Amino acid sequence: MKDKILLALKEADGYLSGEQLSGRFGITRSAVWKHIVKLKEEGYCIHSMRNRGYRLESEPDILNQTSLRCALKGQWLGQNLITMKTVDSTNEEIKRLARQGAENGLVVAAEEQTAGKGRFSRTWSSEGNGGLYFSLLLRPELTPAEISSITLTAGYAVCLAIREYISLPAAIKWPNDVIIGRKKVCGMLTEMAAQSDKIDYIIIGIGVNVNNASFPEVIAKKATSLFLETGHTVNREEFFVCVLRHLEKALSHFMVSVSIEDIEEFKQLCATMGREVTLERSGQLIKGKACDISPKGELIILTDEGEQLTVNSGEVTVQGIY
Ligand code: BTN
Repeated sequence: MKDKILLALKEADGYLSGEQLSGRFGITRSAVWKHIVKLKEEGYCIHSMRNRGYRLESEPDILNQTSLRCALKGQWLGQNLITMKTVDSTNEEIKRLARQGAENGLVVAAEEQTAGKGRFSRTWSSEGNGGLYFSLLLRPELTPAEISSITLTAGYAVCLAIREYISLPAAIKWPNDVIIGRKKVCGMLTEMAAQSDKIDYIIIGIGVNVNNASFPEVIAKKATSLFLETGHTVNREEFFVCVLRHLEKALSHFMVSVSIEDIEEFKQLCATMGREVTLERSGQLIKGKACDISPKGELIILTDEGEQLTVNSGEVTVQGIY
């Protein structure tokens, strides 16, 4: 009910009286007042005026499930969306829900993760410091071999969202990161459960540094945020909607087929292309130049020894990028 009242205030052009709200939702005026008090406690600034009612003046920077769902109406991705204040990891939470039968398109987002996971068993700092942490659940009718470029597709969508929302030239750092300039602004962690050739579920976990004003010392030189790049606070809820729209579009297309033209588009936005790279393979460092992306989304490297290597995972360091 509290969220319904919030939504009504958001959509209202000016004041809504206690009577209008109680009539619309079938509750008493004092119940309306109690919900208003709760919203104020959560940080919503609501002006109340005698004979006129309530008007929403400003909102705190928290993700609200109801308004997000409403903004995503008609989308398959995020129509079922859960926002949490704190969780160990949104990837772990969505995995628990997937095992209980949650459906394709579920999104779980959290303000804070106590055990945020990065690639290669690293941790992902997520102390409710203005970042956006969320995971998507997908159940595509595809085989594991057909989903090799799914993270690249998601990265492409995040780049488009950043480019649209704040007009900054975000680019993909193959295969899992999004960068602005030389620094990382977003990381992705994809996990999958499959039996022989059938995918049970795929989880794409995405962390975007949105309003982070600083970073722990170990990553400070490598990381940036939308706030640090633009100098102003970004409305996380609006930005999240923009990201989910781009993700839905790119992933819907992905489920049908990924064509050479799509890979060409990914390449256009991939900062790794044409750069000197170092690949770590079985404890060995191999140097070369990133020269292409294969139709499966793999990175093609021309080594300094003149050999062509096709890489589908592993740690690739790119010269000039953090
Ligand atoms: C990386 O760059 O190493 C990947 C980072 C992925 C972080 C996101 S935040 C939301 C989701 N939940 C997690 O525990 N990890 C991913």
